[in-house]
Amino acid sequence: MVIRLPDSERLAAVLRICQRMNSERALPQLLDLVAEEAARLLDADRASIFLLSEDGRELTSKVALGSPQMIHFASDLGIAGSVVASGETVIVKDAYSDPRFYQDVDNLTGYRTLNLLAVPMTTNNGRVIGAFEILNKRDGCFEDDDVQLIKSLAANAAIAIQTARLIAELDSRRVTLEHENRNLWREVGGKLPSQLLLGTHPRMEELRRMIARIADTEITVLITGESGTGKDLVARSIHFASPRAARPFVALNCAALPEALLETELFGVEKGVATGVDRRAGKFESAQGGTIFLDEIGDLSLAAQAKILRVLQDHVVERIGGRTNISVDVRVIAATNKDLTAAMKKGEFREDLYYRLNVVHLKTPALREMPGDIPALANALLYRVASGMKRVAPPLSAAAIQVLLRSSWPGNVRQLENELRRATIVAQGPEILPSDFSEELTAVSVTPEPPSGLQQELEALERRRIQDALAANANNQQRTAKALGLSRQGLINKLKRYGIRTSPPREE
Ligand SMILES: Nc1ncnc2c1ncn2[C@@H]1O[C@H](COP(=O)(O)OP(=O)(O)OP(=O)(O)O)[C@@H](O)[C@H]1O
Ligand SMILES: [Mg+2]
Repeated sequence: MVIRLPDSERLAAVLRICQRMNSERALPQLLDLVAEEAARLLDADRASIFLLSEDGRELTSKVALGSPQMIHFASDLGIAGSVVASGETVIVKDAYSDPRFYQDVDNLTGYRTLNLLAVPMTTNNGRVIGAFEILNKRDGCFEDDDVQLIKSLAANAAIAIQTARLIAELDSRRVTLEHENRNLWREVGGKLPSQLLLGTHPRMEELRRMIARIADTEITVLITGESGTGKDLVARSIHFASPRAARPFVALNCAALPEALLETELFGVEKGVATGVDRRAGKFESAQGGTIFLDEIGDLSLAAQAKILRVLQDHVVERIGGRTNISVDVRVIAATNKDLTAAMKKGEFREDLYYRLNVVHLKTPALREMPGDIPALANALLYRVASGMKRVAPPLSAAAIQVLLRSSWPGNVRQLENELRRATIVAQGPEILPSDFSEELTAVSVTPEPPSGLQQELEALERRRIQDALAANANNQQRTAKALGLSRQGLINKLKRYGIRTSPPREE
């Protein structure tokens, strides 16, 4: 036996349903909720919502509650069609004898409609957006008070559906925009840094190829190389060529901070850990969705290494003084100019962390390993550093390039940049001269080159000629110099250079 709810309780039920509808933002769930509650309220077997398409030509409904499958038919068909067209309520006592009834819907859903109540769904500006049908009342037929109830429910449902549609549209626009934004970043960012990475030596080409290959992945990268060889630049190149380009790139120099501060920097801190301490997110959290660059990772203490390892394994961080884990989606790139293998052997670097970081190992070559690149690199960097200082630099003279070629570049590209910056400011003439470089550079470069084969031969010849001339002129330096076409001082210099000891002049 069915017990019909008293009117006040039915009204209270409608209000409860409206409240739930207003907090449901996803359209499919909202449709299910409205249908289910309406059927229960009217003691009917089921309810269907037919939504009118944007152009008004089609009606769409769910095949069944909870099903993602939809049925579509022309908007002038069926009872739903006539309700939408007329804006009037329709009560049907025997569906199959009503000429307006569209049996195909039953055929498609496998349901048998006996009686029904259909009301239009109208938004508050009077637009009909669909029809609401309650099917197969369990006990008797639909009555007037059912109509009132379902009309007020339909009016509220229409508004909730409009809102859900609007939200879905905004959401899809946001997704499109984010997608476009990401692609733009990749296009712009992907080009910029790899062009910034100069050099045509095969090792540089290989480095650029690797960056392009791994950028798209989530792989953890370890970059090693001497100071000033572009580790920072490589890390940025990877980030800006990756799908994370539009998200933050957060760099942290692990060597620059004392142990206690480092943890706060990395993991953040909760309010009240110490007096005056405010709640603050750490670098891992700030890099959410992007990349964290752990520079000078070889300088981390063993304790800090253990903590970083935990983040890499569990993808969660815990703020200092906090009790909850915050999950982080961050790509990790680490760099160091230390020899981590040696550090591992000495027990200064954790092996497990090393293997976590070292999924891909990129090595930045030292400048002295690519001498052929120096002239082109110097010219390009000269232009870059000068524009950075809003200046125009004179070109490098041939002699200046010779000096650059002879240096051993302990500071690599950074040192080269600094020399060029200095020369841009110091140079007075139409060309940059060796004297425009720092003493450090010229001091290194004036040390004589190791003699080449030809030079060795020439020197040996010169030495022999001097010795012969000395013998022929009885060790008399004045005459020997004259015979060789040298000044007296010129001869003395050469004697010194070749370490030739002369005996006192012989009596003749
Ligand atoms: N291949 C390169 N092409 C162009 N510029 C480069 C290249 N390598 C390095 N540089 C420049 O040299 C300078 C130093 O590079 P970077 O800071 O990346 O070096 P690093 O390896 O991180 O050094 P450190 O170990 O001292 O931190 C930067 O200004 C960078 O732009
Ligand atoms: Mg660096």
